[in-house]
Amino acid sequence: MLKVENINTYYGDSHILQDVSLEVHLGEIVVLLGRNGVGKTTTLKSIMGIEPPKTGKILYKGEEITGNQPYQNVQKGLAIIPEDRRIIPNLTVEENLKLGILHKKKKLNVAERFDMVYQYFPKLKLRVNQMGESLSGGEQQMLTIARAMVSKPDLMMIDEPTEGLAPLIVEEIGEILRRLQRDGATILLVEQNYQVSLSLSDNLRAYILEKGQIKLSGTSEELHACQDEVERCLGVKL
Ligand SMILES: Nc1ncnc2c1ncn2[C@@H]1O[C@H](COP(=O)(O)OP(=O)(O)O)[C@@H](O)[C@H]1O
Ligand SMILES: [Mg+2]
Repeated sequence: MLKVENINTYYGDSHILQDVSLEVHLGEIVVLLGRNGVGKTTTLKSIMGIEPPKTGKILYKGEEITGNQPYQNVQKGLAIIPEDRRIIPNLTVEENLKLGILHKKKKLNVAERFDMVYQYFPKLKLRVNQMGESLSGGEQQMLTIARAMVSKPDLMMIDEPTEGLAPLIVEEIGEILRRLQRDGATILLVEQNYQVSLSLSDNLRAYILEKGQIKLSGTSEELHACQDEVERCLGVKL
């Protein structure tokens, strides 16, 4: 579905991503892990075309999309769910959700999409006419995910959805991701929380970034087998 080949991305003279390669197959959840500042968000932005790589290739469904504008990638079915959430505070929940279908080219049954999203997020349905700013942090995160889902994306790239949220809400978001996976969604997930991410699926694969380079990758089992190395890369005790 997605193949990233040796991308190098810069901010000015700073060489951030160094020969990053990764793959996401149809129906898979792939997790991108790593400490703060190693380039996880930059990886998602590079794929989306927000911070295009200087060299390297990005293939999506077999077609090269390197250098595409973000809106072109949205039309092709990619969605990014940014870590800073970016819901519009003075629009209602429903209006925020409608922003999710702005750049969509293919014909969508909008009513059906909204129904589907409200099934996933009953809490949002209760708050359709409430302003974005009145939502809790967890609800805002749900709204960001829901806004991407209404456009029926083929690949969702979700950046740290559990960051800063209380444990109960983290569990709720985890449940939503598990449900998405069961329903066949393809997800590239950036997550700081190793335990949460490895609990999402039995056949999950992960990549660990360190200073802009992929240092480790494998299934949850394979990573388990080299726990010392994982702990060193992530700077945590597991
Ligand atoms: N817009 C930007 N301009 C310059 N440097 C940036 C910008 N965004 C991120 N960086 C730097 O690039 C590196 C990688 O950032 P980022 O991809 O956001 O890391 P992560 O998501 O893993 O925490 C960091 O050193 C960060 O300071
Ligand atoms: Mg980040």
